[in-house]
Amino acid sequence: MKTFKDIHSLRKELNNKKNIAFVPTMGNLHDGHLALIKHAQKIADHVIVSIFVNQLQFLPNEDFNRYPRTLTEDCEKLNALGVNFLFTPSNEILYPNKQDFLLILPPVANILEGQFRPGFFVGVTTVVLKLFNIIQPHISLFGKKDFQQLFLINEMVLQLNLPIKIEPYDIIRTPDGLALSSRNRYLTKTQRTEANNLFLTLKQIKNKVHNGCSDFKTLQKDAIENLHQRGWKVDYLTIQNSETLSPAKINDNNLIVLCAAWLGKTRLIDNIEI
Ligand code: PAF
Repeated sequence: MKTFKDIHSLRKELNNKKNIAFVPTMGNLHDGHLALIKHAQKIADHVIVSIFVNQLQFLPNEDFNRYPRTLTEDCEKLNALGVNFLFTPSNEILYPNKQDFLLILPPVANILEGQFRPGFFVGVTTVVLKLFNIIQPHISLFGKKDFQQLFLINEMVLQLNLPIKIEPYDIIRTPDGLALSSRNRYLTKTQRTEANNLFLTLKQIKNKVHNGCSDFKTLQKDAIENLHQRGWKVDYLTIQNSETLSPAKINDNNLIVLCAAWLGKTRLIDNIEI
């Protein structure tokens, strides 16, 4: 695997290469990332992964400083997979000037994650657009766990006419159902035992909807109450239309349950498509 820290040599290497797939990450690679990368290897000739913990997408009170940085282990995993290229820019390389040239996002960026993490999606889309401009991939892969992020990246590519195919990838879970996330490592042993109940709650809602329940408000309310009783603090748990991300209406065909909730000091997000 060839590793690049600067933009010039990376561009020189990628110049004229056909069929490049790009997997942007913040490192601390887990099996979810690795599944995404393996899929990239199946659909492209060259795979490039980036590792960059993007401060622009963290609120001042969030976990930027303690976000796990495990570059040595990450490189071992990427080497073992036979990844072609790794881009690990420093903050100075990616943000040489104060980044005050920012995107104005559609209103959908201000609900759900955007409501609880104002500015988050401006940070995400800005860094992803910069990485797209640097790498100019043909395909880029994003996990469905960050469903709203994937939604906004799709919109960005569409509305800004970027010549990139966005490839979504399914959520990878532990055997008991917990969606893989770098933040799972913050959980204590007791919290980890409890954590899979987030997915079980989503699965129950899905089953109830499949069985004909269309009282979405009650389903949401009961699920939130149940999680509260189990010790969770729920930011949101809501059934939305997966194609627009607006609140679900009874006759909508494509539904998704999205949630974000805290166990102690750890915030987990998850979703299930219905
Ligand atoms: O999903 C992530 O890990 C990040 O939001 C991303 C896409 C790498 C941008 O920093």
